[in-house]
Amino acid sequence: MTSRAPVRLAASPRSAGVDDGTASTRPRDAVRASVDMNALALHLLCGTQRAALACTPFVGCGDSDAADGAATAAMRAAFSHVPGTGTVVIGEGEKDDAPMLYNGEQVGDGGAPDFDLAVDPLENTTACARDADGAITVVAAAPSGHLWGSSAAWYMDKLIVGRRARGVIDITRPLRENLERVARALDKPVRELHAVVLDKPRHGELVRSLYDFGVHVTLMPDGDVVGALHALLPDPDADLLLGIGGAPEGVITACAVRLLGGDMQAALEPQSDEERRRIREAGFQPGAPLTLDELVRSEECCFVATSVTPGRLLHGPEPTGEGWRTRTFLSTPLHPCLIVEAVHRHDEASTEPWEGDRA
Ligand code: FBP
Repeated sequence: MTSRAPVRLAASPRSAGVDDGTASTRPRDAVRASVDMNALALHLLCGTQRAALACTPFVGCGDSDAADGAATAAMRAAFSHVPGTGTVVIGEGEKDDAPMLYNGEQVGDGGAPDFDLAVDPLENTTACARDADGAITVVAAAPSGHLWGSSAAWYMDKLIVGRRARGVIDITRPLRENLERVARALDKPVRELHAVVLDKPRHGELVRSLYDFGVHVTLMPDGDVVGALHALLPDPDADLLLGIGGAPEGVITACAVRLLGGDMQAALEPQSDEERRRIREAGFQPGAPLTLDELVRSEECCFVATSVTPGRLLHGPEPTGEGWRTRTFLSTPLHPCLIVEAVHRHDEASTEPWEGDRA
């Protein structure tokens, strides 16, 4: 995903693909068949792989928009073969602005079952443009009507912990209290906690407080979906992720949190007066807590992320001579933590320019 505003997060359009800026809270009246998230994830995997392959010519080329466009076009093309009807509730942007994978767009072969999709065809566009660590293509899905979404919200405060600290966090309580609760759950002192925080000016005070409490802090320039995965998986350098990041990324991450048995609380944190106004108009209260159950209303969901550049969790794509090798982190109810390595022939890589695809 590229710029934060105005092309941002989807609403879950309950009818006729209309994004009215309100939250998705109700399942569709008639869900035509139950969704097998284990099977769906394998179909979505094709989309994240194709998107990652489409990004490879753009890695280190300084053009994040071109990379994002190529990833979006490739992912969308792959999704047209997915069995079922997926509604993009977290998409590339508002219906009128984004040409592909926009909020409310339907993907799939049009049959049953119905499901909600949250997509970020290129998460951490800057890392891709600069050939830095941590760019991924990512998608999450849940049964129709079970993913939270509102086009009004661009930013979200997030507090994410792994399985051992599930049930102890409370985003409404002071930082110190949450750190003490997490430390107790992990059976170590606060000064041995490791926190992951996006390196943004808005986090100056948070980071200073963490240092004051003796917490070790990993500052990531971008990419809090990957940062959250570190906190969710056994990683000695990541016990929790804290701070404000993209709201769409928050909903995508919430699926991984559910599948990996961790915990997450969030709160909409508008970063401009316009966003604050939009949130209020959509009926939300900035700062009001959102629980994991509100973000993803089902245990049946899936999360698929393919690396575009290397990271601690996944090696990046590698040329093999005859094609490319990709690495994907895939999480489903049956396989919460699966790393998929795949070899692709050259002709599988879509390198069509985005503009060409738009025409
Ligand atoms: P992009 O893929 O849109 O570049 O997002 C990268 C990212 O760092 C996300 O991981 C994070 O949630 C968000 O941007 C934070 O937004 P901002 O960079 O505007 O603070």
